[in-house]
Amino acid sequence: MSQAHYKVEGDIAVITLDSPPVNGLGYDLRSGIVNGLDQAQADPSIKAIIITGSVKAFSGGADIREFNTPKATAEPTLRTVIRAQDDCKKPIIGAISGACMGGGLELALGCHYRVASPGAQIALPEVKLGILPGAGGTQRLPRVIGVEAALNMVVTGYVVPSEQFKGTGLLDDLIEGDLLAGALAFAAKVVTEKLPLKRIRDMKCEYPDAEAFFQFSRNTVGAMAKNLPAPLKCVDAVAAAVSKPFDEGLAFERECFVYLVGTPESKALRHAFFGERTAAKIVDVPDGTPTRKIERVAVIGAGLMGGGIAMNFLSAGIPVTLLETKQDALDRGVATIQKNFESAVKKGKLTQEKLDQRMGLLTPTLSYDDLKDADLAIEAVFEEMSVKEQVFKQLDAVMKPGAILASNTSTLDLNKIASFTKRPEDVIGMHFFSPANVMKLLEVVRGAATSNEVLMTAMQVAKKIKKTAVVSGVCDGFIGNRMIEQYARQAMFLLEEGASPQQVDAALEKFGFAMGPFRMSDLAGNDIGWHIRKRRYVEQPQMIYPKVADALCELGRFGQKTGAGWYRYEAGNRDALPDPVVDELITQHRKTIGITPRKISNEEIVERCVYALVNEGARILEEGIAQRASDIDMVYLSGYGFPLHRGGPMLYADIVGLYNVERTAKQFAASAHGDKAFWQPAPLLSKLAAEGKTFN
Ligand SMILES: NC(=O)c1ccc[n+]([C@@H]2O[C@H](COP(=O)([O-])OP(=O)(O)OC[C@H]3O[C@@H](n4cnc5c(N)ncnc54)[C@H](O)[C@@H]3O)[C@@H](O)[C@H]2O)c1
Repeated sequence: MSQAHYKVEGDIAVITLDSPPVNGLGYDLRSGIVNGLDQAQADPSIKAIIITGSVKAFSGGADIREFNTPKATAEPTLRTVIRAQDDCKKPIIGAISGACMGGGLELALGCHYRVASPGAQIALPEVKLGILPGAGGTQRLPRVIGVEAALNMVVTGYVVPSEQFKGTGLLDDLIEGDLLAGALAFAAKVVTEKLPLKRIRDMKCEYPDAEAFFQFSRNTVGAMAKNLPAPLKCVDAVAAAVSKPFDEGLAFERECFVYLVGTPESKALRHAFFGERTAAKIVDVPDGTPTRKIERVAVIGAGLMGGGIAMNFLSAGIPVTLLETKQDALDRGVATIQKNFESAVKKGKLTQEKLDQRMGLLTPTLSYDDLKDADLAIEAVFEEMSVKEQVFKQLDAVMKPGAILASNTSTLDLNKIASFTKRPEDVIGMHFFSPANVMKLLEVVRGAATSNEVLMTAMQVAKKIKKTAVVSGVCDGFIGNRMIEQYARQAMFLLEEGASPQQVDAALEKFGFAMGPFRMSDLAGNDIGWHIRKRRYVEQPQMIYPKVADALCELGRFGQKTGAGWYRYEAGNRDALPDPVVDELITQHRKTIGITPRKISNEEIVERCVYALVNEGARILEEGIAQRASDIDMVYLSGYGFPLHRGGPMLYADIVGLYNVERTAKQFAASAHGDKAFWQPAPLLSKLAAEGKTFN
């Protein structure tokens, strides 16, 4: 059935796009539009044509369900549809409400006139996927809203509400009330007043001193775009709208589009876009699994994490009861939440009224009796099994049947925690990242007994509080921390072998990490890793750790908070300054363990650290801890500052080629220092490499 419905209102043909949810411009819809245009042209009684969508969307752009299928490029392509609009001898009026984005906006720009409801969302967001508009957007938009405004929209992908286009060539009328009625009235006016066919392609695109303006734009955009090629290509394409005749500009835009689609950066951004959506799907949980209503949340522990976790729910309008054991800890926790919201008010990101509303949803308490009505409790108390036991036993005793009991533990065995209750099927891990009110990542930890219903509810809750949720099985460190431990270990081995903290950091920052491992560790606190290692020495004596970090911690150099760590810090300044004391400590440590330092290349630093993530990621995948490789990538992109333009460690490995990764891992395994056993390639890595396959 056609997805573009054709009907006639008097002497006006109305083509209504009907491909929920957002009128993605898939093959059926594109064909339907062309057929509608042909039908209207062939009918002498038709004087004008309206193209419209639903209240929710005129069109959200390309149909992502068709990506990588033959239908995506089958004729009529969107460019053909727009050519049909350009060739049409009867006036076409676009009637826009809701999302009008990407290809949707290009379709609207193919119309002769446009009317819109207030609040319609207008954007060319392609740059966010590492590409640019490929059906004339960069050539037509500057002709109707001006070069500067268009450049801004194309380079940033920002959504602009329709009201802001009043008085520009983009919008001929803003229609309050019934959009179709308004569009029909507008069409009648076009017909009776015999208004001309305003083809945007025929309009001039001018800018005084364009060369200087675009040079300035290239400098600014280039500095901001860092590792991404698309924003600069966007500038080039808009510049072509000014410097070239329309058809040449269009051909140039196409050239840029085709180039960008093939770049690894665009692959990475598209991978991240789809990966986030895919992560919400749980392979073995049937569609339609019911979920539970979460209308009231309890948070146990008002420390660093508990406070941040509570803020997420308060911001989403969900009441929170916050429990502590002592009044002063409770007061401190509440004061921190208040202070954090206040700082958002100071920055203009929150109104005082909203702050008051949010704080009004918070009920601090010292009594478990006050948790009776909560639908979900999230525990964020000290990381000790005995404390968790005490808390979960109490929760089990007071929480109503059907309530979900979640733990924010980073390292403890969730199945053991579940065993403290009589309802292990209702126990789940919700592992937030610090600061919990800011970081996007949430690892949802599925215990052996966790029910599907509870799992799906947790995923839904994550969406409500705007987190990127990834499901992890139970293991020490789950997906993210288990892998980062290997990365950090390699960084420290590299110090023992001859690198300096600043060389390791600089190499990984150049690769694209926001912060190298040593600056990161100084920020988080070196004592955290020390604490974990001390536990490992007892629990997993077979695991080899470079001891250089212990030597640093023994000096009390815990990082920024003590004014010294892998670097030194001056009072009131967070700049990491190289410290000869650390160089000396490393030199002495090398002597103690009998290592002659060697010159280490930046390439080796990146390979050792990043392939460590990949090799451990492969093990996590084959153990079934992660459902799919893209989930691992989502963990790293949203929680660990892995460079977005690389798409996550697993995609990065795919792009390098698994054969190459495996070969390098074997070379590391054969090298004299470090953990040889670790570098035995994970069986899954070897298998895929041998088959010429990829993780993703
Ligand atoms: N800090 C992080 O970066 C981070 C990240 C993810 C997960 N976690 C996990 O979150 C949990 C909390 O960590 P944190 O950094 O917020 O610690 P924290 O020390 O800042 O806070 C813990 C709070 O729990 C309170 N508390 C202790 N026992 C309690 C009990 N029986 N009942 C109620 N409250 C109790 C303490 O008074 C304290 O305020 C730990 O399990 C930790 O592993 C921490």
